[in-house]
Amino acid sequence: MDLFTAIESRRAIKHYSNTQAVSEADFERIMNAVLLSPTSYNIQHWRFIRVTDPQQRARIQDAAWGQTQITEAAELIVLCADIQAWSDNPLRYWANTSSEVQAMMLPMLESFYQGREQLQRDEALRSSGMAAQTLMLAAKALGYDTCPMIGFDSEQVASLINLPPGHLISMIITLGKAARPANPRAGQLPLNEVLMENSF
Ligand SMILES: Cc1cc2nc3c(=O)[nH]c(=O)nc-3n(C[C@H](O)[C@H](O)[C@H](O)COP(=O)(O)O)c2cc1C
Repeated sequence: MDLFTAIESRRAIKHYSNTQAVSEADFERIMNAVLLSPTSYNIQHWRFIRVTDPQQRARIQDAAWGQTQITEAAELIVLCADIQAWSDNPLRYWANTSSEVQAMMLPMLESFYQGREQLQRDEALRSSGMAAQTLMLAAKALGYDTCPMIGFDSEQVASLINLPPGHLISMIITLGKAARPANPRAGQLPLNEVLMENSF
């Protein structure tokens, strides 16, 4: 599927066919595409929990006010991020570069994030947002549907997945084949309301 068709046909799908799985090859292809998403300093804050256990799904559904797509979709991914990834052995983010590049980038990275807790958290959310959009578009390109979700009790889900300290849950994404199409688009703001030239 062409990229613009994927962008235009991706919708937040709430009802899934429970007979159509995501093949393992497709799942891996989607996730490997996700790993190519851009991140500041190549920090790759994202961490993914693939929820395969039906009982764990049901518990997460309870923490998400019963939203049905959580148990209906073939796959459920809790998209997390490591807020401290900037300081966790950052040399590996530049492993394939020369020692000169590493010697330049690593101190830059450290002085950029050191002591800036809001920025560290913002960055984890930015990176996971990038990952989410790649996931949803890659899935669409292979004929699958998704729904990004933040409608759940984050503390409860954190406890269910044993979220480590210094991490956050960015969102949950369901992945599978739609059983019902989305409603017509609710109303996109016109370009001239959101696009400005040079300043607000
Ligand atoms: C961060 C985020 C959280 C969302 N949370 C939920 C959710 O908990 N439940 C739900 O049904 N849809 C959720 N949505 C889907 C939005 O309602 C949907 O993306 C929006 O209405 C636009 O529709 P579209 O994605 O089909 O274009 C979420 C979307 C985003 C990006």
